[in-house]
Amino acid sequence: MYGDVVREIEDLVKPRYKLFTAGPVACFPEVLEVMKIQMFSHRSKEYQLIHTDTINRLKRFLEVKEGEVLLFPSSGTGVMEASIRNAVSPGGKVLVTIVGAFGKRYAEVVERNGRIPIKLEVPYGKPVTPELLDEKLSENKDVEAVTITYNETSTGVLNPLRELAKVAKEHDKLVFVDAVSAMGGADIKFSEWGIDIVFASSQKAFGVPPGLAIGAFCPEIFEIAKKIPNRGWYFDLLLYKKYNDEKHSTPSTPPMPQIFGLNAALRLVERMGGKEKWLAMYDRRARRIREGVKNLGLRLLAEPGYESPTITPVFAPEGINGTLIYERMRERGFELAKGYGELKEKTFRIGHMGYITDKDIDEMLENLGEVIRELTR
Ligand SMILES: Cc1ncc(COP(=O)(O)O)c(C=O)c1O
Repeated sequence: MYGDVVREIEDLVKPRYKLFTAGPVACFPEVLEVMKIQMFSHRSKEYQLIHTDTINRLKRFLEVKEGEVLLFPSSGTGVMEASIRNAVSPGGKVLVTIVGAFGKRYAEVVERNGRIPIKLEVPYGKPVTPELLDEKLSENKDVEAVTITYNETSTGVLNPLRELAKVAKEHDKLVFVDAVSAMGGADIKFSEWGIDIVFASSQKAFGVPPGLAIGAFCPEIFEIAKKIPNRGWYFDLLLYKKYNDEKHSTPSTPPMPQIFGLNAALRLVERMGGKEKWLAMYDRRARRIREGVKNLGLRLLAEPGYESPTITPVFAPEGINGTLIYERMRERGFELAKGYGELKEKTFRIGHMGYITDKDIDEMLENLGEVIRELTR
């Protein structure tokens, strides 16, 4: 009986691809295994233990010396919205840096929540530089916060977060960081770099299924939130902090399997020898893929020096639609990611987050080479 149900669903979703996606990504086997643990109350002593342990591990991973890490029963965009609703005055201005589709989303979130986005936008493939940010902040002294997409998943650009946060702090602005496709794949030193809010989703570089968002908040954010009206309920940071402090849990029911999974991923980091070793794995993978792609005569979208450790967008050869390359690779058992938004036709993307081996990478590159040769013959 039970086996039949599993097979029916496998039939429906056909899990037969090697994943090089932008997220959800392939999960580590240990993560999937712990997600099978039977449920229990999220108000129990046992839940409090796993909740607190996960948060303590995240605090170490993100180097949060002062401040809180909170868990949310949502995807990362929920915390993006929370950053605006809790820490920017109604009608206040926010400098939104935009290097691709997810910076644009942040601007939309600012606007739809009744705040005013002041946009600093650069061409696709380029990062925001500290000089540009400094100039824009000098012209817009009345913004309350700056938003930065650490790793822009649509263009594969890793922004120089540490330097950008430094500039924002010199102008005495709050720094909100979308690290959805960066956290777990690129370093974050929360307290040292002067970050006020950083958030991510479970389904990216930690290699955990979707449904859980992670946020880190400096102490000042909670003081600001006390003065902001209409924070709502579901993403009220003061409510989250209260439940976290007093009940070691969340205000509404948390996605417990994902929390078990994230806890397992953070233990894997430790088993591997710590954060530096884990991030070095991401760096090695990214280099292997970039080199392989360049050896096929293909061009990367991201400006050299700012390439993402978690995703590599690639220009399709002249006259070939990027989606066609994506389709051909799928036929060969490899699920890459299509180009995003306006870049859909011209590019395709190779994600390198989660559970991927060097052998998978070499096989993927070999097949990609064959696909490119077929299409350009
Ligand atoms: C940089 C970035 N920001 C935000 C999001 C939205 O995340 P979620 O779908 O988890 O809300 C994504 C998703 O791909 C992303 O890559």
